[in-house]
Amino acid sequence: MAESVQELLINGEELPEKYIHKDGDGGVLDVPLMEVPVVDLSLLASSLTSREELEKLRSALSSWGCFQAINHGITSSFLDKVREVTKQFFALPVGEKQKYSREVDEIEGYGNDMILSAQQILDWSDRLYLTVNPEDQRRLKFWPEIPQDFRDLLHDYTFKIKMINEVVLKAMARSLNLEDNCFLDQYGKRPTMTARFNYYPKCPRPDLVLGVKPHADGSAITILLQDKEVEGLQFQKDNQWNKVPIIPEALLINVGDQVEIMSNGIFESPVHRVVTNSERERISLAVFCIPEPEKEIQPVDGLVNKSRPRLYKKVKNYVDIYFQNYQQGKRPIDAAKI
Ligand code: OGA
Ligand code: NI
Repeated sequence: MAESVQELLINGEELPEKYIHKDGDGGVLDVPLMEVPVVDLSLLASSLTSREELEKLRSALSSWGCFQAINHGITSSFLDKVREVTKQFFALPVGEKQKYSREVDEIEGYGNDMILSAQQILDWSDRLYLTVNPEDQRRLKFWPEIPQDFRDLLHDYTFKIKMINEVVLKAMARSLNLEDNCFLDQYGKRPTMTARFNYYPKCPRPDLVLGVKPHADGSAITILLQDKEVEGLQFQKDNQWNKVPIIPEALLINVGDQVEIMSNGIFESPVHRVVTNSERERISLAVFCIPEPEKEIQPVDGLVNKSRPRLYKKVKNYVDIYFQNYQQGKRPIDAAKI
């Protein structure tokens, strides 16, 4: 098994070449703060949706591809517990975490950045990657037994995130004056949800090393629980990086490539990255909400017309397409464009 970033630090090794962005495109912490809208999900959930809140959502998604969600139904103390078990897991001795190690050529489990190609520059992060939905696809051998409440918390968190996914997808449709279920129906009956726990150790050279290199997500939407104290996530807009402010009680929700396809490009899947920090470590938890693999997705009818022709093909199993293209250093969404 490849050495985790954490071990590399514990062993006091020099910064390995394979983490260094030589083109000078390392991280810059000091970038403008994003003015991304804060959307109150409780105003979107009911049949008495606030038109103003819907408009905020629509405008956030068409300009940034993301928004901060508040009043999402998960209490701050629950979010804190999830952050806490995440920290506790990564703080376990290396040998304990290795019980959950990813196997060769597999995504699930504990490990560092997956190596998909020889030229790849590695991300300065260790991860625990788990399928959380459908329940019968969970592989419990990768689910930590310590901390003790990890499994129960993740189970409950998954349930709550599933609700949020539905509220957001329906509201997205409504914000475009479409029928409520037009996006959600494309998920199929057994959508996939995967949880990626991210741990970003302190890094001696944030100017040369990234926590996660620039990418857009292959999901329909991604729901991110950020570290409560340490910033790091940045989104690109008009060739400029902007950092996401921390709102402790909020979840950051961004659209992924599959909503870009379903919305016929009206909501674009934003490019984002994570910078490293020499003073402080950071954690986060991303849940990727993904249509059932065999379900075909495509631009919804109401968004294709004379003035806006269809821009994307019908695709299924987009996550596979995503990894194949990513591996070749291509932007995966281009493979779905007509
Ligand atoms: C991701 C991601 C952001 C973060 O896991 O795809 O973009 O803040 N994570 O960890
Ligand atoms: Ni991402």
